[in-house]
Amino acid sequence: MHDMKIMAVTNIKGGVGKTTTAVNLAFLCAAAGKTTLLWDLDPQGAATYILRCEASEHASAKKLVHGKRELPELLVPSGYDKLDVIPSDFSYRNFDVHLSERKRPTERLLKMSRSLRELYSTLFLDCPPGISLLSENVLRAADAVVVPLLPTPLSVRMLDQLRDFIAANGWADLTLLPFFSMVDRRKSLHQDIIASTRESFPEILATEVPYSSEIERMSLRRAPLPAYSPGSAVGQVYSALWHEIDARMGRGSSKRVVPSRDAAPEVSPVAPPYMPFQPIRSEPGNGLTTSIAYTPMVKP
Ligand SMILES: Nc1ncnc2c1ncn2[C@@H]1O[C@H](COP(=O)(O)OP(=O)(O)OP(=O)(O)O)[C@@H](O)[C@H]1O
Ligand SMILES: [Mg+2]
Repeated sequence: MHDMKIMAVTNIKGGVGKTTTAVNLAFLCAAAGKTTLLWDLDPQGAATYILRCEASEHASAKKLVHGKRELPELLVPSGYDKLDVIPSDFSYRNFDVHLSERKRPTERLLKMSRSLRELYSTLFLDCPPGISLLSENVLRAADAVVVPLLPTPLSVRMLDQLRDFIAANGWADLTLLPFFSMVDRRKSLHQDIIASTRESFPEILATEVPYSSEIERMSLRRAPLPAYSPGSAVGQVYSALWHEIDARMGRGSSKRVVPSRDAAPEVSPVAPPYMPFQPIRSEPGNGLTTSIAYTPMVKP
């Protein structure tokens, strides 16, 4: 039996490189000889599109959440050795509604993933942006969260909240794997933010993914970048990212068991919008209408 690791690629913010990362890491994991599955949880279906996959069976979020369909029924091969995909479904836009109908709404995804445990050694989750009940399910199920971070003060604030949220839930065995994404080293702002953030977050990976038009073109090529350009500079960056993550995962992360978290705060049926992170009141004059306050990390 595999000791399946669940690796979630997530960030509240959209367009930060989650899907690009999930596709490339899943490919590299499979290429390293591990049986790998990528589940595209985003109703936009970008990972499904890049990997040129099509669902052969449709199972709605409602049927999955209510246990009427099982994940192994939805597997499709990616065409790459050892890499399978669960394609996205447009009904995933309603995941939160159906999750909130269940008794233990934050544990469903972990329970659903159990049927995959004997089939794969690693499950990657490509998550939609946002804060939702689905994202709490993802954190609850994951062994590691890979967080692509733009070098901006707001992303750093989000990372702070994520770390606090994980600590508040007592999820000590959840490995946080943030890394800087879309970095432009020519910008002194990026350099400053990266330097100051690394001081407060030693867990940030050393590998930085640069802003690169070659990476951007991946969605035109519709293939994992390391599959068609492994020797390029950016191909090497993803390879370094994968090796760093693989090494961290080898160091003492262990599969959690559902009952061990029974003591964790139970979330009773919630009315969307659901907010697992502690909202921070926006101060007058800081120009923020969102719930996440802006804390300048770098003095002008
Ligand atoms: N390092 C990079 N340099 C330049 N462009 C990038 C980089 N990473 C991703 N992109 C491009 O930025 C866009 C968003 O990337 P991606 O889809 O991976 O982000 P995402 O976080 O999954 O977005 P969403 O929140 O919409 O799911 C895509 O067009 C992608 O090709
Ligand atoms: Mg995406």
